[in-house]
Amino acid sequence: MNDWQLKYSGYDPGSEGLRETLCALGNGYIVSRAAAPNAVADDAHYPGTYLAGGYDRLTSEIADHRIENEDLVNIPNWLPLTIRAEGGDWLRPDDVGYLDYRQELDLRSNVLTRCLRFRDGEGRVTRWDERRIVSMHDPHLAALSVTLTPENWSGALTVRSGIDGSVINWGVARYRDLDGRHLETLDASREDGNLLALRSRFVQARREVALAARTSVAVDGGHIPAARTETLADMARDEFDVDAHEGRSVRIEKIAAYFDSGDNAISEPLLEAMNHVRHARDFRALEEEHVQAWSHLWEQFDIRLENAKDDAQLKLRLHVLHLLQTTSIHSVDMDVGVPPRGWHGEAYRGHIMWDELFIFPYLTLRMPVLTRAVLRYRYRRLDEARRAAREAGLKGAMFPWQSGSNGREESQRIHLNPKSGRWIPDNSWRQRHIGSAIAYNVWKYVQATDDRDFLRDYGAELFCEVARFWASMAQERDDGRYGICGVMGPDEFHTAYPGADPSMDGGLDNNAYTNIMASWVLSRVGDVLEQIPEDERRRLCERLRLGPEELAHWDEVSRKLFIPFHEDGMISQFEGYEKLKEFDWDSYGAKHDNLQRLDRILEAEDDDPNNYKVSKQADVLMIFYLFSREEIEQIFERLGYKFTPDMIFRNVQYYMHRTSHGSTLSWVAHAWVLARADRQRSWELAQKALNADLADVQGGTTPEGIHLGAMAGTVDLMQRCYTGIELRGNTLIFNPRLPDEVGRLKSTVRFRRQILDFEITQDELTISSRSMTAHPVNIAYRGQVREVSPGQTFSFRLVPEIKPDRLQREREQERVRSAGGRHA
Ligand code: BGC
Repeated sequence: MNDWQLKYSGYDPGSEGLRETLCALGNGYIVSRAAAPNAVADDAHYPGTYLAGGYDRLTSEIADHRIENEDLVNIPNWLPLTIRAEGGDWLRPDDVGYLDYRQELDLRSNVLTRCLRFRDGEGRVTRWDERRIVSMHDPHLAALSVTLTPENWSGALTVRSGIDGSVINWGVARYRDLDGRHLETLDASREDGNLLALRSRFVQARREVALAARTSVAVDGGHIPAARTETLADMARDEFDVDAHEGRSVRIEKIAAYFDSGDNAISEPLLEAMNHVRHARDFRALEEEHVQAWSHLWEQFDIRLENAKDDAQLKLRLHVLHLLQTTSIHSVDMDVGVPPRGWHGEAYRGHIMWDELFIFPYLTLRMPVLTRAVLRYRYRRLDEARRAAREAGLKGAMFPWQSGSNGREESQRIHLNPKSGRWIPDNSWRQRHIGSAIAYNVWKYVQATDDRDFLRDYGAELFCEVARFWASMAQERDDGRYGICGVMGPDEFHTAYPGADPSMDGGLDNNAYTNIMASWVLSRVGDVLEQIPEDERRRLCERLRLGPEELAHWDEVSRKLFIPFHEDGMISQFEGYEKLKEFDWDSYGAKHDNLQRLDRILEAEDDDPNNYKVSKQADVLMIFYLFSREEIEQIFERLGYKFTPDMIFRNVQYYMHRTSHGSTLSWVAHAWVLARADRQRSWELAQKALNADLADVQGGTTPEGIHLGAMAGTVDLMQRCYTGIELRGNTLIFNPRLPDEVGRLKSTVRFRRQILDFEITQDELTISSRSMTAHPVNIAYRGQVREVSPGQTFSFRLVPEIKPDRLQREREQERVRSAGGRHA
């Protein structure tokens, strides 16, 4: 492998699902899995194509429940392309013997190639050279080129190319008991100009998706017309008869276009799809435009590591690629969020969750318009969140843990534990901390961009309504503090107290992460409002009926929220956590290969993770992931709790040893919080996150979709964590500390309109601001602050990191000095 190529050799049906996900192609409008064009959905293959935000709801009867699920719909398949040599069957991937099998995703150009040589049952050897793109230049277009060469035979060859609307949602085995028939075909036809056309509709959402395709088959430059056309109930296809000769190549090109009724600037989807295909140029021209679009993207998004170990460079690029395939300039005008599992499969049904927290920072510092667009997805669902709060007897906006089409709560209420075969209650909807993630994202976006218009028009309203929600959730306790009860933190293993029936009496009280985030949101309202001009602020407050009394109450709650602590001063994940039993990691480790999904293991044994001090992922530690030490000090001070810097390391140690990393996000968060104190361990955990999808470490989840939070999180580890980037007002702070495994890091960020190229080695930081028109910003490194205007370049010599123990000694000496200087 080089740093730009993901390569596979050999055919392995057992790895097809994984390769289909990792080599999936997309452009923010659609994502199409890298299934072989001649594959149909079965246990090894799953050709799926998804439209960003293309959801539909269906009701299923399961375990005595009627449950309605909103799914990301598998839309009609544009790929079908197969061949039949004289006297043989239609070729399927598993019907031949492979002499050579190479599949490669070129990350720089985002072109997928498959080069195969196979022998059929009659001993005929054929070579199949395929190139495939989903255009980043024109988001509606996908194109395939296959060159077939009979190596040792001549005879009749038939090429069949079609489009298939009979697909269903079948990609996640756990969901197969649920209804997955989301599509109905309105019509399948063949139109002038060799076009195959399909009009389908989502059964419940009534969204129409149109697919049109044209196929050309040529030998020695001479085009062969279709010999037969079939239009069936759900598909349309052409067949081409070719007189094949040994050594003479047959060139096949298929160009397809998708449109849907939600698109902008269209009349009717099928009309547009057909026009698009009619006017589309040939594969080579489409590929050229596509490659250029990607080269422009890499100029803005690449993070270059020099002398990096563990293939880190390649893995990072793969992660960036999938991020940009999920959300791109083409999705900016669409009403979509960023799905944690990409639009690459059916896991989590394409729902939008809190993973934005891990995804946005990378986008914001490069193409902030993407973050802005996704924040507007939340804004458009603000009314639904207000309604949800009202129905729960609360105020403000209660955002759903899982969000899909209209912002209703889409979390499932029961889910299947594949280990026990039981359908069990799912309480993940109690993760009310999602609202704080949205508010935090608004704040961070505005910090990075200074986009006050966004704040005025959307952000401040979102922020205030989340704050209002927390103030109404927080109830005064006997000790004069406020508590937030009946919630779950990010650790999804803890849904209720031991012995409680989670569906009746679920949730936990005073999850530290939830309360700290709530306090932070409530405390920031003043700053948010202050950044809006006075008359606009007044209008906003009038519209929200937000007066001084309510603001004063928010301020009070922000100062009096309760944070639980263990007796020894450790932050308790939630009230009562300390009383839970310790978990016997050793004996479980001896019994099971993988403990990541301890929840499933324990449930299958009629036990319950609620009984133990075990976490699926970072919960308390998320605080240290999201805030700097100074910010945490401020939060604690405001809340009237004592904070000492050693608390960070102690809490990290405590919780890290009780975490199974059942979510890929967990490795990112832990790598982050250890970046300074234990660089070796931090890099190891970063590697785990970098490998999570590539090696499918969860054993089967990646074929169901990428883990975009972890993918973006790893890139952001390089971008912000190891560089020590922090944003404070008009100042961009650097405090680099590269892992030993990285020699040099080069990248580019946008900060308040300036474009800053930076380069970091183990001992130097160099920054150049590109020439353009923009206001000066400040760049700081360890107390040295420089005002920077476009066009300037400068460097900082990096001072070696002070080891924590030395730091401690120095603090001690400092205390002694200021207390009278006895030992000074
Ligand atoms: C994690 C959640 C996350 C979701 C999607 C779950 O396993 O527990 O925190 O939002 O995956 O990535």
